[in-house]
Amino acid sequence: MPLKIALFASGSGSNAENIVNFFEKSTDFEFPLIISNKQDAFVHERAKKLQIPSFTFSKEEFLTGEKILNLLNNHKIDCIVLAGFLLKIPEGIIEAYPNKIINIHPALLPKFGGKGMYGSRVHEAVAEAGETESGITIHYVNSHYDEGNIIFQAKCPVLPTDTPDMIADKVHVLEYEYFPKVIGEIWGNEKK
Ligand code: GRF
Repeated sequence: MPLKIALFASGSGSNAENIVNFFEKSTDFEFPLIISNKQDAFVHERAKKLQIPSFTFSKEEFLTGEKILNLLNNHKIDCIVLAGFLLKIPEGIIEAYPNKIINIHPALLPKFGGKGMYGSRVHEAVAEAGETESGITIHYVNSHYDEGNIIFQAKCPVLPTDTPDMIADKVHVLEYEYFPKVIGEIWGNEKK
């Protein structure tokens, strides 16, 4: 039986698409739905192309989590992957999916994490701090932003001349390479 993964994304959704494509021929995973908190996020276009139903929930709905939990239950979702998802995951969902929710953060946690540290802000902070390296952190999700146990990190060099956009590009390369692989490593074969 394949493991059913729900993808959560707030923006472009390039990681979500990359993950779905990576496992296109795999019998280990299915991706029955994509969930967003933004109706106009480009991830919905990608979902259409991938023929995966996508849903939007408001911030208020994410605060309670009830409707989302119902949808996850109806689709028999086993695990959740946050791929560029910006809202806090409600306690009810975290409790229903212990160690079954992972997130990718576009920096080397515990540095440059926490509330408000997302998207371009992370790369701006890395550039401003004069860091010589950045990277990705894939971690389990608990009720504190970016504080769940770290599963995997990969690094890239940051040059003094790198702009935040240039750092973001380097980080994206790492995300595309490693995020699907890490999902395969931690959850592949789990249900067979
Ligand atoms: C990624 O850099 C991810 O690490 C961060 O937000 C970005 C999302 O990009 N949390 P995309 O929506 O997958 O293109």
